[in-house]
Amino acid sequence: MLFPDYRPRRMRSSEALRRMVRETALSVNDFILPLFAIDGKAVKNPIEAMPGNYQLSVDNLVKVARQAYGMGIPGVILFGIPSKKDPLGTQAYARDGIVQRAVKAVKDKVPEMVVITDVCLCEYTDHGHCGFVDGHTVDNDATLDLLAKAALSHANAGADMVAPSDMMDGRVAEIRAVLDENDYSRIPIMSYAAKYCSAYYGPFREAAQSAPKFGDRRTYQMDPANAREAIREVTMDVEEGADIIMVKPALAYLDIICRIRDEVDLPLAAYNVSGEFSMIKAAEKMGWIDGQKVMMETLTAIKRAGADMILTYFAMEAAALMDR
Ligand code: PBG
Ligand code: ZN
Repeated sequence: MLFPDYRPRRMRSSEALRRMVRETALSVNDFILPLFAIDGKAVKNPIEAMPGNYQLSVDNLVKVARQAYGMGIPGVILFGIPSKKDPLGTQAYARDGIVQRAVKAVKDKVPEMVVITDVCLCEYTDHGHCGFVDGHTVDNDATLDLLAKAALSHANAGADMVAPSDMMDGRVAEIRAVLDENDYSRIPIMSYAAKYCSAYYGPFREAAQSAPKFGDRRTYQMDPANAREAIREVTMDVEEGADIIMVKPALAYLDIICRIRDEVDLPLAAYNVSGEFSMIKAAEKMGWIDGQKVMMETLTAIKRAGADMILTYFAMEAAALMDR
């Protein structure tokens, strides 16, 4: 097989030949578009560090969802920015909460679209943590009930899938049990199973106004230095009843995606997070990289590493460049 008998360049000599031997094909079917819902009418607040992304009132959010579905993107994941926050994050599970209303509207106007909801408390609590805070600690078991209530309220609003992102232990089992008790055994759980404590979430926390007011998330989100622990986290969530598992962020964690792909047979999602998006946009704006090319290369890399689906703020931009 050694040179000169084997010449890898033979297979790269034309675009058609390269297409023929290409191992990874990105598809619009792989994309899930994150959207931010906010109170009001005709609101479209640009998110500074995430060009092309907005805090959207429900009327505008429905328009974007419809457009995305028209481009072939099968699903959205919804985040809420409530007008009121409190220690228990009650707006996270309010019947007429912002996400609940957004879900209803999208299911009403674009019924074919898969509507996923992010289940967490950090956007809804005044302290900005993902759970019930007792003194300065986040109380795991006291949080489970609140998360399950949020997931149930999303199901009641018509969500097709719920995605817990809080990183409390045992939340998948708790949410599964409560959904099943309420006749929602058909609703899948996409678990943010290996979610790292990452500085790449910075722009999202601006967008969702969800930065913690004290401390950080290191006592519940994973240490970026750990890989074996990700396998344990994922294994637990599978046993607790997760239907899709997620690795987050994506780009600095391609090794984790690859390892999980080998270990687990469930569909695997990767979250191409806000900071990953912003870095590309910023470098493009500076004229330092070709933004479109880096976007496509990045998304292809996440798929190549083993992700079946990619949550990405690039979904519409990438879809516009792809043939279906
Ligand atoms: C809520 C949540 C976060 C993200 C998704 N769900 C932020 C966080 O954990 O602080 C991050 C998404 C992104 O950065 O694009 N827990
Ligand atoms: Zn959170």
